[in-house]
Amino acid sequence: MHRAVCPGTFDPVTHGHLDIIGRAAQVFDEVVVAVGVNASKNRLFAPEERIAMLERATADLDNVRVDGFTGLLTTYCVEHDVQAIVKGLRAARDFDYELQMAQMNAQLAAGVQTVFLPTSPQHSFVASSLVKEVAGYGGDVTGLVPDFVRDLLTKRLASRRS
Ligand code: PNS
Repeated sequence: MHRAVCPGTFDPVTHGHLDIIGRAAQVFDEVVVAVGVNASKNRLFAPEERIAMLERATADLDNVRVDGFTGLLTTYCVEHDVQAIVKGLRAARDFDYELQMAQMNAQLAAGVQTVFLPTSPQHSFVASSLVKEVAGYGGDVTGLVPDFVRDLLTKRLASRRS
């Protein structure tokens, strides 16, 4: 059984994330979407909300499940018999940071390989942070996130303003 994680904060999940998760699910027997729930004041959605959104968005993928993790990602991988960390690369700007993380993770757990997948071109500009910024100014994020995520985002941003 070849098991991989797709880790991230997913605040919120985008179609870019779902593209990588779906393609990882074609390569590995099982994919765990590992939602980083380390404490941070800057998240729009609570850990359980991010996990619920991912569960709904990946419900059609039989070999994908969603889990939260705290602490080091490599510790999660070792404890859950995960052999690979799958990361999407949108453009050159992602590479330096992701390479550094991959090398640090290899230092921490030599048996866990990082695998990079190039983001599909139609998603290369999509980032959760930009989606939140655009939605925060009233812009339409349809097509960048699942429709139900767009609606939750709109509602959350409106409640923050009131
Ligand atoms: O969606 P993001 O913000 O790019 O996700 C980053 C994440 C959660 C994958 C990364 O910060 C992470 O792995 N955090 C867990 C803590 C850890 O293992 N840090 C060492 C990384 S080299």
